[in-house]
Amino acid sequence: MLVAICSDKGSPGATTTALVLASAWSSPTIVVEVDQAGGDLGVRLRHGRGTPFPEAPTVLTVATAARTSSPPDLVGRYAQVFTKSVSVVPGALLAEQVGGIADWAPLADALAVSEVPVFADLGQLHAGSRLLPIAARADVVVVVGRPDPGSVIRLRERLSRLAPDLGALRGNSSRLFPILVTSTRHGPGDMADLQAVLAPTPSKPFLVGSGFLALDPAAVRRLESGEEPTGRLTRTALMRSGRTVAQELARVLDSTHRVPTSGAATVGAP
Ligand SMILES: Nc1ncnc2c1ncn2[C@@H]1O[C@H](COP(=O)(O)OP(=O)(O)OP(=O)(O)O)[C@@H](O)[C@H]1O
Ligand SMILES: [Mg+2]
Repeated sequence: MLVAICSDKGSPGATTTALVLASAWSSPTIVVEVDQAGGDLGVRLRHGRGTPFPEAPTVLTVATAARTSSPPDLVGRYAQVFTKSVSVVPGALLAEQVGGIADWAPLADALAVSEVPVFADLGQLHAGSRLLPIAARADVVVVVGRPDPGSVIRLRERLSRLAPDLGALRGNSSRLFPILVTSTRHGPGDMADLQAVLAPTPSKPFLVGSGFLALDPAAVRRLESGEEPTGRLTRTALMRSGRTVAQELARVLDSTHRVPTSGAATVGAP
């Protein structure tokens, strides 16, 4: 199972959303950061007690290995354990390093066939992006925005462009899932406004669901510092909203995949 997460411009929270959804998933997951602008996770994440997260192997290591073959455990081999149920492949730090990979199709294959569900952060995605083949292989593409008018209009336009572009690459319908990062208080109203904005657009038939993630900086800090998302963190607005969206995503994916209802094993490198 592959969920791609992307945005238009403006850093609305794609990377954070990937981490939250993977942490709220009901079975072990892998977050893979494939941002062409360079990665954040290798420098942002901490294990418990403040230990820096290993910056390598990165997505470049996996992309290189995938050129030879893509067995179902390939991504897991290079993913590093972050929490008990989430492993992470961070992006390369600099755009120049990511730019060295001309063809992302082998990595798209590796992510799509991974035996552990993958949440791939593709960063800012547009028609000219070299990462489009990864979004095209995804079972669902989450597009993240904020509730301010500028971001909502950008989200509307981005969805309308992605639907045909991805459909042409897939040879099948796009499956798009917009998410707003907003306050718990305004979330339901912001989502109703977004639905109204999207209803008359060409992307409407390709929207398979939607949801909001709570704006909760303290919980984001705790999650990034390696606190287990199964303990007290579950009571935060961030993780409560993450669980709601993850359940909606699982419902959507259930039509094509059998989604596990519980998980125990830790994934990643031994
Ligand atoms: N749900 C949230 N609650 C609180 N803060 C958030 C949330 N989501 C994102 N942020 C904050 O917003 C900022 C941008 O988030 P993030 O890096 O995830 O965005 P991005 O879309 O991946 O950006 P970029 O395009 O630079 O990669 C960060 O400071 C992050 O902590
Ligand atoms: Mg990012």
